[in-house]
Amino acid sequence: MPVVVMRKTCLLSCLLALLLPILSRQEEHSKLLLVSFDGFRWDYVNRVPTPNFRALMEEGVQVEKVENTYITKTFPNHYTLVTGLHAESHGVVANEMYDPVLNHSFSMEGPEIYDSRWWEEAVPLWVTTQKAGRRSGAAMWPGSDVAIGGTYPTRYMSYNASMPFEMRVEKLISWFSGANAIDFGVLYWEEPDESGHNLGPESSLMDVVIEDIDRKLGFLREKLKRAGLYDKINLIVTSDHGMTQVSHDKVIELDAYVSQDLYTWVDKSPVVGILPKKGKFDEVYSLLENANPNMVVYKREDIPDYFHYKHNVRIMPIIIEAKEGWTIVQNRTGSFMLGNHGYDNHLRSMHPVFLARGPSFRTGYTKATMRSVDLYPLMCSILGVQPLPNNGSLASVRDLLMETPTPRPTLPSVPREPQSAWVLGVLLGAVLVVGFLVTFVKQVTQRQLPPLPLTNREISQPLLQEELRL
Ligand SMILES: *[C@@H]1O[C@H](CO)[C@@H](O)[C@H](O)[C@H]1NC(C)=O
Ligand SMILES: *[C@@H]1O[C@H](CO)[C@@H](O)[C@H](O)[C@H]1NC(C)=O
Ligand SMILES: *[C@@H]1O[C@H](CO)[C@@H](O)[C@H](O)[C@H]1NC(C)=O
Ligand SMILES: *[C@@H]1O[C@H](CO)[C@@H](O)[C@H](O)[C@H]1NC(C)=O
Ligand SMILES: [Zn+2]
Repeated sequence: MPVVVMRKTCLLSCLLALLLPILSRQEEHSKLLLVSFDGFRWDYVNRVPTPNFRALMEEGVQVEKVENTYITKTFPNHYTLVTGLHAESHGVVANEMYDPVLNHSFSMEGPEIYDSRWWEEAVPLWVTTQKAGRRSGAAMWPGSDVAIGGTYPTRYMSYNASMPFEMRVEKLISWFSGANAIDFGVLYWEEPDESGHNLGPESSLMDVVIEDIDRKLGFLREKLKRAGLYDKINLIVTSDHGMTQVSHDKVIELDAYVSQDLYTWVDKSPVVGILPKKGKFDEVYSLLENANPNMVVYKREDIPDYFHYKHNVRIMPIIIEAKEGWTIVQNRTGSFMLGNHGYDNHLRSMHPVFLARGPSFRTGYTKATMRSVDLYPLMCSILGVQPLPNNGSLASVRDLLMETPTPRPTLPSVPREPQSAWVLGVLLGAVLVVGFLVTFVKQVTQRQLPPLPLTNREISQPLLQEELRL
């Protein structure tokens, strides 16, 4: 082989050896773990020492006010977090629903949660992550053990309320480790919601519950550190909603105003879904309209636009919203709670906590306000996954992220590789083409070897493909 060709080949392969690791490192996207402590109100971190929550604030970002979506219930808001859609658009409009088209009812405590049709008005982020060729894992997040559009998370567990938090964490961390590690994880824990309902958020007994959640967060941090993941993973700790004190003295009994024969009671207090019997709409509405000053009665089409809670047949024709702290029942025979949520999402008491830390996030940064629908585009940006149409805005939460530009998934037609990798690819391609031309011209003019040496072609082809793909 002539010396000149060998030198060219060496030059190219040396260039490749130098640049390829940079290219592939650029393509490695951040990992993300989204944690929800159900019913963790934003201000719980201030009422007892919470050293682990504090540590996250110092190491990362916190948002003081997160406006979640109406109604401020568990299933609607958990689905909003992973879709970026308001409830009317993702279809999980309540914990208890009736769909007049399917003629089916849904209760979050029933087996209907496994009927994927309830979830398929939207696509959750774990499915989109997998469609982008990456892996996800889910520990009990609402909807994560359902085949949505035929797809489960890559790794998941069937819902089991008795499975301890620690076990969920250990499982998730094992999924984040080793070969075929997941890129995106979701973790759900039932507290402090359950205690908040039973004790009421004002009860001093709640202090112990909050301290326990902080210890659980500490367990998660410790396990991530031991697995060598703590500084690699982006950790978001948030919740679906807050909690407010309710009382036996603030009860509205619908039986006093309208007979149970006239309607079906679909969703529970504090935003009650009323389905009038056939032909009874006007009668039910006029009986309820001005019945009690501590509730507001809406026809579906009159629900204020700012709730984004109107355009879905699963929203009942009549909605009754209790004022904060009030409970709506049919009569006083049922059981009674001391805390509840579901009220107007503009009430401070309904807002969740929000903290995040990790390589993609700024450190020691406090942001005044965001909407929970904005979390979805933020997570897509961190993961480098193209977001589906949603109601959030990356622009309004981008300041939570480190300044260094990472993935640019919001550009409509550009694939998920970061811009710097794209530039490198083009540069490398150009170098190769020039290298080729020089070699080729020399070969042809010297007429010593066939025009395209095999060695060059072998090196260049994967790279040219790489360039095309970029
Ligand atoms: C809806 O389902 C119920 C049973 O759950 C049935 O009695 C009723 O006839 C169905 N209605 C229609 C319109 O199919
Ligand atoms: C739920 O989890 C508990 C605790 O790990 C376990 O003992 C129980 O067998 C699980 N139940 C089911 C149905 O898997
Ligand atoms: C109270 O309401 C329940 C349904 O919520 C009904 O079954 C019961 O008959 C009612 N009790 C009275 C005394 O009306
Ligand atoms: C929310 O996003 C969905 C999907 O793009 C869209 O259909 C809907 O109109 C949006 N809602 C609002 C209030 O913008
Ligand atoms: Zn709850």
